[in-house]
This record gives sequence, structure tokens and C-alpha cells, in this order.
Amino acid sequence: MNADSLPIGLFDSGVGGLTVLAAIQRRMPNENLLYLGDTARLPYGTKSPGTIARYALQAASKLVALRIKLLVIACNTATSTALPDLRRHFAPLPVIGVIEPGAAAAVESSRKAHVAVIATEATIGRGAYQEALQRLQPGIRVTSKPCSLLVALAEEGWLEGRECESVVARYLNPIFKNEDAPDCLLLGCTHFPLLLNPIRNILNPDVRIVDSAETTAQCVLDELASTGLLRKNRNKGKVRFFTTDDPERFVHTGSLFLGAALPLNSVQLVDL
Ligand code: DGL
Repeated sequence: MNADSLPIGLFDSGVGGLTVLAAIQRRMPNENLLYLGDTARLPYGTKSPGTIARYALQAASKLVALRIKLLVIACNTATSTALPDLRRHFAPLPVIGVIEPGAAAAVESSRKAHVAVIATEATIGRGAYQEALQRLQPGIRVTSKPCSLLVALAEEGWLEGRECESVVARYLNPIFKNEDAPDCLLLGCTHFPLLLNPIRNILNPDVRIVDSAETTAQCVLDELASTGLLRKNRNKGKVRFFTTDDPERFVHTGSLFLGAALPLNSVQLVDL
């Protein structure tokens, strides 16, 4: 098989990374894709760095063994902990994470150079967004907050309503209900774009909300274009899904994240 026909591999702790997959499909509908969701071990966001690094290496190894031309870490928590290790381990395979592209989108959006980042406990604890934002715009102000409960709300499909809005408000009001509030909210977790409506409802309309799915997809496109690895065949690409737990549950929650029905026969149960 020609190198350009090899699939792009993506992994996440669960179904959240499907938002990145969807953004890649919109830009490059002819690419073949492999997606692995480590649903048996979700969430990664409350685990220790050593455990997250081990899980990330196992998930990535599975995809690399199937032969891929580029690896996307479609999980903020895994990116914050394992990106340099995975790059070293699988060199020269290009490895793209979601943090740098998300930070770049936030720097573009904030006019006051004051950004709020919400993510899992592990991502905030590693300081990965804070570092990426400072690297891109030295002196930028960053207010960060772990919001682990929002992952559970999204998984449960509680995307609106009183309970959902009150949890979102409890996390965000202390950041945004003051004079010197940030003017940009960076959704540093794959699950948070699903909660866009309740988030928008409590924020001032001029706060810009950014997530990394679209900018990560653009990075993938740029990387493949610059290395001559964009698939030449113009036919629609094939997508295969792997999960480490119940495929039916993967299809159910996955369809919510993808915004389209996932066929059960495209999902295979695997062991890492
Ligand atoms: N995929 C994770 C992230 O983007 C959220 C879910 C988890 O904690 O595993 O950080």
C-alpha cells in the first residue's frame, strides 16, 4: 500500500475524541481513519501521570501496529502527559496533540490577552495549556480550572436543563462574574463542546469560546500536505472504530459526540 493511502490513527480515553475525528472528516473526507476509544479505562482525567502515560502508550501502540501514517492524540489529558514520550517512542511517525492547536486558537481569539481554560484535573495539573499559551504569547494571563464533573454530564447526555446549567454555573461564575474577567474560554477537554449551549447561556455574549477540534484538524491537514502524504485517491475514506469496552455503549454515546449514527458493525472490541 502507498504511504498516502495508510490511515490516520486517532485515540482518546473514550468517545470525546470523535469531535476531532469529525473535524478531520470535514476537511479531508477521502482520508482513511482508525479511531480507538479506551472506554474501559475512562476517565483518564482523574488518573496519575504514570497511569495516563502507560495507557496512552498502549493505545498508541495498538494503532501503530495496524500501520498508520500519522497519529493524533485526540485527548487533552493524554496530550498533556504523553505527547513528548509518544513522539520520541514512535519517531519518525508524526504525532499531533490537541493542546498546541487549542492554545493557538485561544491566542487568536482573545483581544485582552486573558484566557480561561477549563479541562480535567490532570490536564490543568500538568500546566500544559498554561505553558502552551505562554509560549505562543508571553505575558498572556491564564485562569485555569479543573471541571471534572462536566465529563460525566456529557457522557450521561445531560446537555441542557436545570441540573446541567447549575453545575456549569458553579464552575464558571467565579471566573466570569467579575470586572476583570477573561474574554475567551478555551474548552480544554474533548467532552466540553457538547455543553456549548449551557456554557453560552451563562457567559456574556462577547466572551469567545474556542475548542481544539478544528485547529487540530487543520494541523493534520498542514502536516500531511507538507510531507506529501495527503491521500491521492479522491474516493470517500473508510473509518474503523476500536473500543476497549462494550461496542453497543460506544455506538450509543459515540453517536452523540459525532452528531451522526455510528453503525455497530464498524466498531470492534479490542484488548490493550
Ligand atoms: N478525553 C479527556 C480529555 O480530553 C476527557 C475524558 C477523560 O477524563 O478521560 O481530557
